[in-house]
Amino acid sequence: MRNFLSLNDLEKHEINSLVEQSLAFKNKEVALPNLSNVTIANLFFEASTRTNASFYQAQLKTNMNILNIDMSNLSTQKGETLIDTVEVFKAIEVDGLVIRHNKEFYYEDLVNHFFMGFINAGDGKNEHPSQALLDLVTIKENFDNLEGLKVMIVGDLKHSRVARSNVELLKRFGMEVYLASPSSYKDDSFEDGMYVNIDDMIDKVDVLMLLRVQNERHENLNKEENYLEKFGLTKKRYDLLKDNAIVMHPGPYNRNVEIDESVIHLDKSKIWEQVTNGLYARIAILNYVFNKED
Ligand code: CP
Repeated sequence: MRNFLSLNDLEKHEINSLVEQSLAFKNKEVALPNLSNVTIANLFFEASTRTNASFYQAQLKTNMNILNIDMSNLSTQKGETLIDTVEVFKAIEVDGLVIRHNKEFYYEDLVNHFFMGFINAGDGKNEHPSQALLDLVTIKENFDNLEGLKVMIVGDLKHSRVARSNVELLKRFGMEVYLASPSSYKDDSFEDGMYVNIDDMIDKVDVLMLLRVQNERHENLNKEENYLEKFGLTKKRYDLLKDNAIVMHPGPYNRNVEIDESVIHLDKSKIWEQVTNGLYARIAILNYVFNKED
């Protein structure tokens, strides 16, 4: 049994293998794994539609035993700590947990205390490794050769675990990564030289990755006025993209903020492919963590 906490923990060949496996599962080239000997629970302490539902669907499709958890009635509401909560699941012979939590690196204590399969479904503003994997699957599905692709990540970088997971990953696979955002959403952890003006690069990039404006994490920030015109994907910017460029957004999107609703379903938009790829990437992740034969 393994953990899946950050793609930085995996060798490049392991990530490559997860990408290839995700696509093979999607294209019905290989059978889905049978993980009927594994019992799992999904603990989402932060809201989620895509990640939660696609992990659940991936677990159903691989015949896992899934504990149904009502998060609003979990005893963390009564003050029980995360580590004590996990000990309960360990004691009732649950093999693995998919956890989303608002605390960065919440998993560090857990992996030191318990031998279980832990899957990080997002830790605060730090990482979202299953999203980064499905994003890489989506890029690979659209471009044979990843080396030298130009990727521009645009938006709320300061609060984005998606950006933090993707920047390192895409660079490891030889892509040129550029960032664009309002000054209030810039993040100092990224190199200064990566920041560009969105309109200087829009006609040069192969991949445009939009980020959600995370209003719920904006404690002391003023709202960015006219965000769509300044940093969003308007129809005008969409038309400037190269013919074979792709548009990505992890979702959920704020309509007419990061993206004009008229371009959401146009050809270059791969937003719905991303959601489908999320299912198959998560099957590959479950297989990586729990399949003894792998
Ligand atoms: N992309 C993503 O994590 O979406 P959810 O918050 O809906 O899971």
